Amino acid sequence: MNSEKTKKPLSRRSKAHLIILAVTILLFIIELVRSNSYIEVESFEYKNDKLPQGFDGARIVSVTDYHNHGGTYEDKLIEKIKAQKPDYIFLVGDIIDSTFTKLDVQKSFLEKCVGVAPCYLVFGNHEQRLSSEQKSEYLENAKQAGVTVLDNEIVPLTRNGDTLYLVGTSSMGGFTDVEEQAKALDKSAPLLWIHHYPENFKEISQESQSLGFGSMLLFCGHAHGGLIRIPFTRIGAVAPGQGLLPEYTGGEYFEGDDEMLLSRGCGNSGVSRRLFDPFEIIVCELKAG
Ligand SMILES: [Fe+2]
Repeated sequence: MNSEKTKKPLSRRSKAHLIILAVTILLFIIELVRSNSYIEVESFEYKNDKLPQGFDGARIVSVTDYHNHGGTYEDKLIEKIKAQKPDYIFLVGDIIDSTFTKLDVQKSFLEKCVGVAPCYLVFGNHEQRLSSEQKSEYLENAKQAGVTVLDNEIVPLTRNGDTLYLVGTSSMGGFTDVEEQAKALDKSAPLLWIHHYPENFKEISQESQSLGFGSMLLFCGHAHGGLIRIPFTRIGAVAPGQGLLPEYTGGEYFEGDDEMLLSRGCGNSGVSRRLFDPFEIIVCELKAG
């Protein structure tokens, strides 16, 4: 009796299944690496008849959720930002990471950003979670670098003799300071606003209207694109502050005449978990009427 088992050759169908599985795994690995290393640039135009001519062609780069990435990635990111030839850089929160805090990286990143264009920064949840000593060092680094940190403040931006106003808020509520500062301002042009949390878009739009501005352009971050996205859609799995299947994941959103440009962010907090969701910076060119 022959006890040796004879190996059955794989059927054509089984071979095809194995090939499909291997290709799927390979594509998955390639996408995982791409989503956690490549930096996309999303370009937008903001056209508004009420923009002053002096701002026609002005370019704003929005950088969010850097999470003190550091290393060679930092230089790659700075080169991407520089290539957009920005007039302004908006740093829209979570430049630091409160779990793996590297203030030396925050310092070096801000210094490099200021070397490209004037920078305006608001806090995100990670900045808010720093200890008071870390916060002091963070703010001192920003001050030394020449970054304007906005905490419920309005500042004028001037270009070619014209002025636009920029609001920076680091948390919801407590707009009394902003309301007080807005009273004396000319409100004929659109308002620019930076705020980390996109889930506050509707409230901020209402606040901007009650301040007396006819239209507003808001820049946000925080959602990290929903982390795991369905390709060619804006559907993401989860976002902090919004939970599962978040409403806001990335791109442009509208509330009446107000618009939000939401960046998917250019870093991760801790282990990379992005899929079909590469890092991103936003560049927005203003177009006057
Ligand atoms: Fe955040």
